[in-house]
Amino acid sequence: MTAKKIALLGSTGSIGRSTLDVVKAHPGQFDIRALAAHSNVELLIKQYRAFRPQYLCIINPDSGAALKERVKDEPVEVLVGRDEMVHLAGLAEVDIVVNAVVGAAGLLASLEAVKKGKRLALANKESLVTGGPLFPPLVEKTKALILPIDSEHSAIWQALGNSREEEVRRIIITASGGPFRKFSLDQLREVTVKQALNHPTWKMGPKITVDSSTLANKGLEVIEAVVLFSMPTEKLKVVIHPQSTIHSMVEFVDSSIMAQLSAPDMRLPISYALFWPKRVASNFGALNLDSLSELTFEQPDFDRFPALKLAYDVAAAAGTAPAIFNAANEVAVDAFLNKGIKFLQIAELIEDAVETIEGVSRPTLEDILNADRMARQHVEKMIGKPTCS
Ligand SMILES: NC(=O)c1ccc[n+]([C@@H]2O[C@H](COP(=O)([O-])OP(=O)(O)OC[C@H]3O[C@@H](n4cnc5c(N)ncnc54)[C@H](OP(=O)(O)O)[C@@H]3O)[C@@H](O)[C@H]2O)c1
Repeated sequence: MTAKKIALLGSTGSIGRSTLDVVKAHPGQFDIRALAAHSNVELLIKQYRAFRPQYLCIINPDSGAALKERVKDEPVEVLVGRDEMVHLAGLAEVDIVVNAVVGAAGLLASLEAVKKGKRLALANKESLVTGGPLFPPLVEKTKALILPIDSEHSAIWQALGNSREEEVRRIIITASGGPFRKFSLDQLREVTVKQALNHPTWKMGPKITVDSSTLANKGLEVIEAVVLFSMPTEKLKVVIHPQSTIHSMVEFVDSSIMAQLSAPDMRLPISYALFWPKRVASNFGALNLDSLSELTFEQPDFDRFPALKLAYDVAAAAGTAPAIFNAANEVAVDAFLNKGIKFLQIAELIEDAVETIEGVSRPTLEDILNADRMARQHVEKMIGKPTCS
């Protein structure tokens, strides 16, 4: 069997590193052809030494210059900038593109992989949230495969099996509830960055960790599921499941519910996507049932976590509305992490952007990029305003 050739975008992040763990655990099965990151030169060089790809790509120009200098005597091509990362996603020799970039910055690479008919193992949910309307016609045309890495969507995919659309009553997306599940609104007003970065069950990058604490992440996942599984929002239900053991469920019309369970370990859904349609032996995510004392479920509270309600609204509105939601969230989360805005302002800023910026119902890529840009500018302006509470 020939090794499958992988381009791994976002290799230095949490999902990127877990993907390399999976590759390492299965010698001879995969061949890392390209690694891409934003600016983490040190880790990229370490990964280069371990996996010997043909290409290294880095987005930040200063980091690019440093990287070129550091590997100038090595047999590797160094590419710098966003367009080069997009180019890697379409390389003729690559079989699987793993998109583990954070944020809408991953959109163009996902589109390129799909345009070129690749297998796209997708962690970058923001691609589907932002560019949702663009993917289905492209997939239809090129027969590309989008294989979700997000644990919830991997669970849904596994639970759906070969079922037909009319057999599915609803999809139940589970959420841990994040660190503030039991916080009152008064407590949420005073949440610190340190508290928000302390997720109870998953170790992830900072952006998704904050998204999990506001439940914006669950909202992004609802929008992602609409695109991936062609499901209307009415058939998507979110339940809080604090143990993060059931990663999502599908309820069928005969009232059977199929669930996928494992210990929280992203290397399991990554393996599933990389090896699909096969399952391979592994202990990633192995669950000790004897130590499971309870599996509990609660309703999400839209009043304390309004970002989730907003996500349902933009998912139903479709067009550019999810792109506006996503971009506003990205800027607001960055401001929470770095500029001292309050935790509850994240959802307020998203709401403001969604209400202010006019959407386009059947958008082109240009419309989507434009909506993304306008939402970013809008939120940046709001943050700069002294009236922003
Ligand atoms: N972590 C999880 O468990 C998890 C679970 C489900 C889904 N996801 C999704 O997976 C994606 C990655 O999450 P993560 O937690 O792995 O994030 P992360 O740890 O913050 O890593 C992000 C990766 O993207 C790179 N990057 C940042 N900005 C970029 C840009 N503008 N262009 C190209 N590359 C850029 C980073 O490079 P540098 O290191 O050089 O900055 C890094 O390699 C997100 O969409 C997230 O929602 C993550």
